[in-house]
Amino acid sequence: MNQDQLKQAVARAAIEYITPKLQADSILGVGTGSTANFFIDMLGELKHDFAGAVASSDSSAQRLKALGIEVLDLNSAGELVAYVDGADEANAQLSLIKGGGAALTREKIVAAVAREFVCIADQSKWVDVLGEYPLPVEVIPMARSYVSRELVKLGGSPIYREGVITDNGNVIIDVHQLTILEPKKLETEINQLTGVVASGLFAHRGADVLLLGTTEGVKTIRPV
Ligand code: A5P
Repeated sequence: MNQDQLKQAVARAAIEYITPKLQADSILGVGTGSTANFFIDMLGELKHDFAGAVASSDSSAQRLKALGIEVLDLNSAGELVAYVDGADEANAQLSLIKGGGAALTREKIVAAVAREFVCIADQSKWVDVLGEYPLPVEVIPMARSYVSRELVKLGGSPIYREGVITDNGNVIIDVHQLTILEPKKLETEINQLTGVVASGLFAHRGADVLLLGTTEGVKTIRPV
């Protein structure tokens, strides 16, 4: 199986996982990225079984709407039955690195509101220690240089993601060379830097379940 086939397999597994949880008034959180896109495309099959979705990016919102799924503003949605999204890295605690697609802040907000965070990923995302994938940090534009200097003090090598403006009008710094042995601690430290909107480290609110696509099939993994 190639990587896209593994992504399709976990998207299918996520559809099967959430179907029994959906009711006519349920609102679902939907993420961003290539794995989430496979999930969105399959979600069209269930569109009469739930009330609507909250999307973590404008691009996912458009994709949902194109399938005839109602997209709601989070402020009028109340609790979300689940949030389904991909990841760039996941460890055994189901702490994640996310934000490769620059949607990390909205992803974090939607994950916070969801009863259950269902992460979907292919086996290439599974790691012992987070940090090989550069950690995205969303920053208010005028704070970019200051935050970069502070990220160096935390042991990283920050690189400005040129030409990318987030859906919130901010910039992304990708932090290379991190070996993240204490994800919650680092998440807190980065959150405390003035000018940081959010980091792509999902440790305080990691995933509740990971559907991991492997060549031996989809594994259902709970945090250790
Ligand atoms: C989007 O900002 C990200 O958090 C994605 O969830 C993450 O990059 C995974 O993307 P793929 O499913 O495309 O690998």
